[in-house]
Amino acid sequence: MKKYMIETWGCQMNEEDSEKMAGMLNSMGYESTGNKEDADIIVFNTCCVRENAELKVYGNLGILKNLKKSKPDLVIAVCGCMMQQKGMAENIKKNYPFVNLIFGTHNIHKFPQLLNNAMQSQNTIIDLSEDYNIEEGIPIKRESKIKAFVTIMYGCNNFCTYCIVPYVRGRERSRKPSDIIKEVSNLSEEGYREITLLGQNVNSYGKGLDEDIDFAKLLTRLSDVEGIERIRFMTSHPKDISYELIDVIKNCSKVCKHVHLPLQSGSSRILKLMNRNYSKEKYLKIADKLKSEIPGIALTTDIIIGFPGETEEDFEETLDVVKMVRFDSAFTFLYSKREGTPAFKMKEQVDERVKHERFNRLLELVNSIALEKNKEYEGKTVRVLVEDISKNDGTKLMGRTDTGKLVNFSFEGYNADDLFGKIEDVKIEEAFTWSLNGKIAK
Ligand code: 5AD
Ligand code: SF4
Repeated sequence: MKKYMIETWGCQMNEEDSEKMAGMLNSMGYESTGNKEDADIIVFNTCCVRENAELKVYGNLGILKNLKKSKPDLVIAVCGCMMQQKGMAENIKKNYPFVNLIFGTHNIHKFPQLLNNAMQSQNTIIDLSEDYNIEEGIPIKRESKIKAFVTIMYGCNNFCTYCIVPYVRGRERSRKPSDIIKEVSNLSEEGYREITLLGQNVNSYGKGLDEDIDFAKLLTRLSDVEGIERIRFMTSHPKDISYELIDVIKNCSKVCKHVHLPLQSGSSRILKLMNRNYSKEKYLKIADKLKSEIPGIALTTDIIIGFPGETEEDFEETLDVVKMVRFDSAFTFLYSKREGTPAFKMKEQVDERVKHERFNRLLELVNSIALEKNKEYEGKTVRVLVEDISKNDGTKLMGRTDTGKLVNFSFEGYNADDLFGKIEDVKIEEAFTWSLNGKIAK
């Protein structure tokens, strides 16, 4: 049997796209391998949200050059967001002529056909056609048997000035509720217990559909699907959070008490330059409302350091919001210039040394608050959806609370196979910055 390997960079959307490509390859009779040397087909699913992600792709392509020399029949495909950038496909073709196939984010459903074309051609096949139709029913091979990603909408209309995503993923479009519900019902029948709904801005779900539906209504309808016990979602844009949504998170027991709400900056001045459409005050108001309406809710965020023109005062406003909201965790990013975005041309780019210094100060604050918040769990018993054997200790199991905390726990007296996919009580004994340790509660 011929083997394939898919390497994925970037966000959960890319992970889900890779799961679809794996599904299509399986249907074509290939099997997966974790080892490049064993593979007959290698697919790189790329990301371009920051320069670092791109550098990794270039580095990995360089490594493939030698592999291809020793294995001329190896088929190499490169796809994903990075390929959608102007001139990128030609650049890859020129500098890495051994790549057989290049395609973008809009034609993943054509993968089997493109692959066949590439196998029969001496040249690099490039397909970046922009087909905005949503293709349903693509086979999918998921990483987990317990939790699944379900994309509910594609693209983004927000054009934050730093961000390349709207240029490489196209305009916002929502899947029909009936298609989403069908997929989730099938997942439930297959034994899945948790779904994570994906979209760049799930709060604007439903716009442009004929049906009268929005994100809060979609959540309510999905919570009727029997067998699915947990519903997560990401990402929420602060400008679009509705009180209806807060009510659904509060009142619907299946909807997890966790909101990922990217702040990006705590300075209203910078937020305006970023085209985020909310102020520091508005963000704080939403965070307060979420915390007061839903006690114990976990809030996580994304923050960019060193956006053009960011001063020490602007940065301190960010620290201020972090201290007031007390995020459970935060992804912190150094601003990365992306060609084609409005911020690329902004004159006052922040000095690299200053960026790094601010980044370290922010990280220290974020981590210390994350640890304090996790410490609040010590001694408490929490409900954990059991997913797998623990990554760093084979005698333990791992899973997550509905607030998204990673829990590693011992399970004396139980058989691991009986616990996978179940929600169990776990007593938390020790908290760390990134995880909790505990034992199954009898
Ligand atoms: N530089 C740094 N971080 C970025 N993000 C998006 N674009 C950039 C950029 N040019 C971050 C944002 C977003 C997350 C997915 O990536 O914080 O929420
Ligand atoms: Fe990028 Fe802003 Fe769209 Fe998120 S909402 S994908 S940060 S443009």
